[in-house]
Amino acid sequence: MKIDSVPFFRMKFTQAEIDAVTNTIKSGWLTTGNISHKLEDRFCRYVDADYGAAVGSCTAGLHLALKVLGLSKGDEVITTPFTFVASTEAILHCGARPVFADIDPVTLNIDPKDIERKITKRTKAIVPVHIAGLPCLMDKITRLAKKHKLSIVNDSAHAIGAEFNGKKIGAYGDLSSFSFYATKNLTTAEGGIVTTNNENLAEEIRVLSLHGMDKKAWKRYLEHGSWYYEVVSLGYKYNLADMNAALGLAMMDRLDTLQKKRERAAGWYDEMLGKFEEIELPARDKDSRHAWHLYIIKLNLDKLKIDRDQFIRELTENGVGTSVHFIPLFLQPFYKGKFGLSQKKFPGAMSAFERVISLPFYPDLRKAEVKYVADTIGKIISINRKL
Ligand SMILES: Cc1ncc(COP(=O)(O)O)c(C=O)c1O
Repeated sequence: MKIDSVPFFRMKFTQAEIDAVTNTIKSGWLTTGNISHKLEDRFCRYVDADYGAAVGSCTAGLHLALKVLGLSKGDEVITTPFTFVASTEAILHCGARPVFADIDPVTLNIDPKDIERKITKRTKAIVPVHIAGLPCLMDKITRLAKKHKLSIVNDSAHAIGAEFNGKKIGAYGDLSSFSFYATKNLTTAEGGIVTTNNENLAEEIRVLSLHGMDKKAWKRYLEHGSWYYEVVSLGYKYNLADMNAALGLAMMDRLDTLQKKRERAAGWYDEMLGKFEEIELPARDKDSRHAWHLYIIKLNLDKLKIDRDQFIRELTENGVGTSVHFIPLFLQPFYKGKFGLSQKKFPGAMSAFERVISLPFYPDLRKAEVKYVADTIGKIISINRKL
């Protein structure tokens, strides 16, 4: 079959996964219950964390993770500007101030040296974001956090399955928030989980995620459940419904296989794109296991007559779906205005932004599709190469 287009994202679910959702609907119990708790247990084992609290999104999870650490007005949290807005929304919703450290333009991850420069006496936490699934330098970040008595909350939206120095990302720092959004490595359509090795923090998150009601409140509609519940804190409606959790729980059965397929697709791209000097392949790190949520190339613009936007237009004209991860927050009107941010302060993030393209990437991407994308890129390069 002749390929003439490759979408940016595509996901197929198995009959077992579809049945799991259907059976949950048939059971009559749609919202938070045994299935979301089973997903918590199973996912925690997968990321080597002791406790997990399922939530409605990774964004909600980040908010609660920072909240239970007691962050509030006047506190500063260091994070990257090269991320989705969710990472900083959570900080602002706690009343704290995000302070941005620049990235390493090769890995796209936050630069520990710049974190150190940004630490003040008001700094309380660091939020590393493991972009595309490549772990941040957690040895250096952990050392900095220990030295300055800072907490670490991982934005692990992309990092399901990622490991640094043989340890899963969920085992680093105080808390980690993972995303189960529709395009993520494991999905519940919308959803997420906060993992931690601290039982009290996990319990506080569970309570806060369901209106601040005591931990047994979800059981009140069970056959022998009690109508009585107590509200013990000012909570949120951030819980994960069983109908959603059923999809994620069923998908856990093939998560390892899905991860291997992602690794295989990344290998095909590396192999087929490696010959082009006009392209920089995604960074790999010998001490890490990449979760391969995204496959992000960078253009070597000094070797091309066109810029990134024109390159994307030409890919689109040839049926190749792409995206850009991420538009740095200092370019977003709200953040630029509120914090007076200037792109000159973030040369790493700015140079990366001008050059990045996320290519089609998902577990069932076929080798022939990768070849189509690579051939299309080759064609665009050959027409637009600087002589
Ligand atoms: C880096 C990063 N953090 C957080 C999120 C938020 O995830 P969610 O949609 O589950 O809230 C995303 C979403 O894509 C993301 O890319």
